[in-house]
Amino acid sequence: MIQTNNIIDSFAKDIALGLSDNPKYLSSKYFYNTEGDKLFQKIMAMPEYYLTNAEDEILSKQSNLIRKSFGNQPIDIIELGAGDGSKTKHLLNNLIEHKVEVRYIPSDISPNILEELKSNLSKEIPSLEVIPLTGDYFKSLVELPDCKDRKRVMLYLGANIGNLERKEASNFLRQLQQFLKKGDQIMIGFDLKKNPQTILDAYNDAQGFTAAFNLNLLKRINEELGGNFDTDAFTHWERYNPETGSARSYLVSKRKQSVTIEALETTFTFEPWETIRMELSQKYSQSDIEQLSTSAGYKVVQHFFDSKKYFVDSLWEY
Ligand code: AVJ
Repeated sequence: MIQTNNIIDSFAKDIALGLSDNPKYLSSKYFYNTEGDKLFQKIMAMPEYYLTNAEDEILSKQSNLIRKSFGNQPIDIIELGAGDGSKTKHLLNNLIEHKVEVRYIPSDISPNILEELKSNLSKEIPSLEVIPLTGDYFKSLVELPDCKDRKRVMLYLGANIGNLERKEASNFLRQLQQFLKKGDQIMIGFDLKKNPQTILDAYNDAQGFTAAFNLNLLKRINEELGGNFDTDAFTHWERYNPETGSARSYLVSKRKQSVTIEALETTFTFEPWETIRMELSQKYSQSDIEQLSTSAGYKVVQHFFDSKKYFVDSLWEY
C-alpha cells in the first residue's frame, strides 16, 4: 500500500535524497519497522553481537555504583531509544529497592515497543511510575513532565550514538542540553575500539541476520513506497576501519539494474557493483569519549566498563 501522509513524506524524501546521491546512501534510522525490530532482537541474541551482553553486565553488576553517582534526590530517568528496556530494568530495580524516588520516562520512535515495555514493567516493577513518550527525540522531549526539584538523568544506551558521525554526535548531545539544568546528567553507551576481528564478526554474522536487517529496508521501501527492489540482487558488505573506528555496512548491487519507486515517481539505476551506504556503527576509545564530552559541553563523572573493556556506559554532567 502506498501511503501519502506526513510521516511517510519525510521517509519518502530521505529515500529520494539518498538514492539520488552519488555514492548512494540510506539512513539506518529507517531499519526499525515491525520486521526490523524482530531482526534487531535476533541480532542482540547472537553470540557474535557482544554489545548486548557487555552492557547488560555493566548495568546488572554495577547498578549500586551507578545509583550512587546519580545522587539521592528525586530523579527522572529519561531514556532515549528505550526499545524493550531490558537492560535498564537492572538499574530501575536497584533504584526502587533503595527507595530512590524515581520516575521512568522511556522514549522511542516505535510505539509498539513502548507499549510492550510499559506492560512488562507494570508486572515486574509495579511500584515504578512509567511515562512513555513516543516519537522523534526532540519532538517528544518537549512533552517531558515538569522537573522542578527533580534531577534529570538521560540515558542513551546500547551504542545508539554510534549511528551518528562524530561531529553529528557532538551536535546531538549539545542539543540535549535544552532539556537539562546544570547538574543534570546523561549516561551514554559507547562501543569501544577492540580487536578489529571481534568487531567485524559482530556485524558480519554467519547466519545472515545483519544482512537481512539491512535488506529489510529495501523491502520496507517496496511495501510502503511501492518500490520494486529485488533484494536477491544485492549483497551485504561490512567494513571496519580500526583507524577511524567506523564500522559501516553497505548493500552492493550484484548487477546492472533499475528500481522504480512509485511514490517517488522515479526510477533509480544501479551500475554493476554499485553501493548503497547503509549504517555507521562508530567505535570509540576512552580518549575519543573524553574529547566528545568536552566538545559537547559536559564533564565526565565516571566511566562504567564491562569486565572485558568491550563497552562503556559513560556518565556525564551538564
Ligand atoms: C542499535 C545502532 C547500536 O550499530 O550496533 C546491530 C544496530 N546494526 N547490527 C549497532 C546494529 C547491525 C546497532 N545499534
